[in-house]
Amino acid sequence: MASMLLLGDIGVVEIIVHPSARKQGLGRELLRTVVATAHAEGFTALGVEVPGKTDAVPFYESFGFVRAFTEIRSVLQLDKVDWFTLGEFASGVAAGYRLQFCPDAPPEDLIEAYASAKASVQDIDLGDLDLKPSSHEPDRLRASLATLHARGLRPYIVVAVHEPTGDVVGLTEVVVPAQHPSRADQYDTIVVPGHRGYGVGRAIKALMLFELRSHEPRLTEVQTWNAAINEPMIKVNQELGFIPDREWLEYEADVADLAARLGLR
Ligand SMILES: CC(C)(COP(=O)(O)OP(=O)(O)OC[C@H]1O[C@@H](n2cnc3c(N)ncnc32)[C@H](O)[C@@H]1OP(=O)(O)O)[C@@H](O)C(=O)NCCC(=O)NCCS
Repeated sequence: MASMLLLGDIGVVEIIVHPSARKQGLGRELLRTVVATAHAEGFTALGVEVPGKTDAVPFYESFGFVRAFTEIRSVLQLDKVDWFTLGEFASGVAAGYRLQFCPDAPPEDLIEAYASAKASVQDIDLGDLDLKPSSHEPDRLRASLATLHARGLRPYIVVAVHEPTGDVVGLTEVVVPAQHPSRADQYDTIVVPGHRGYGVGRAIKALMLFELRSHEPRLTEVQTWNAAINEPMIKVNQELGFIPDREWLEYEADVADLAARLGLR
């Protein structure tokens, strides 16, 4: 199968060939079809996210895709967590912040503030290609949460509220898939600029792990992805017990170049 998701002006590609049918040119044919569509419809660039050290790396490189961004996947094993230290992190937030656990979705009275917190970090450029959709308006956020539920992905959220203003200044999101309930995915973790350095990021992630332990008894690990240059988040993750294990690479290519290389024009 091949799919292409349009995000702004970039087409995000996914290609999967059954292991028994690989290395016979099927991947190339699927890519050719995707590129023909992208070219005919006037898109300029394709992006793809691939796990490091797999066949997908030489596959995309052979067509001229260039690596644009590297993320590190880290995994936390729940049975290795030091719960005592974690408890200190969860309660170690500065005065004036209230932490709130929100299973399924932020409450309606916080959704505007929640969306604003997400919007406030939109401009922070870590250099990635923005290959994932992001919802930072209340209606899109509600739709995105409803879609997660419909797909059997249960979201859990912890927010930090700045009590004097009522603003949401920190949030962390984890999703547990019904079809794979032993491994959760860490989605966004955000601390709004101006509220960094007060223990908020560490506290919300630590509280999340306590809540996951009590709400998801089958859960054994949590995986997360960080930009290799996002040092503050990497430090928090290390303190919590996340262990880096694999690179994830974002590649991009120009549609016109691909079309020429694949003999489409
Ligand atoms: C990546 C993938 C789609 C390739 O499919 P495929 O049908 O085996 O690829 P093709 O046979 O069409 O290979 C096309 C070219 O890619 C390159 N290539 C593919 N696999 C390669 C490998 N293991 N080592 C080196 N080059 C490789 C070669 O240049 C090849 O051309 P050649 O046969 O003339 O040498 C397949 O390995 C796969 O499904 N992987 C798992 C899913 C995945 O990770 N997808 C990527 C994320 S979207």
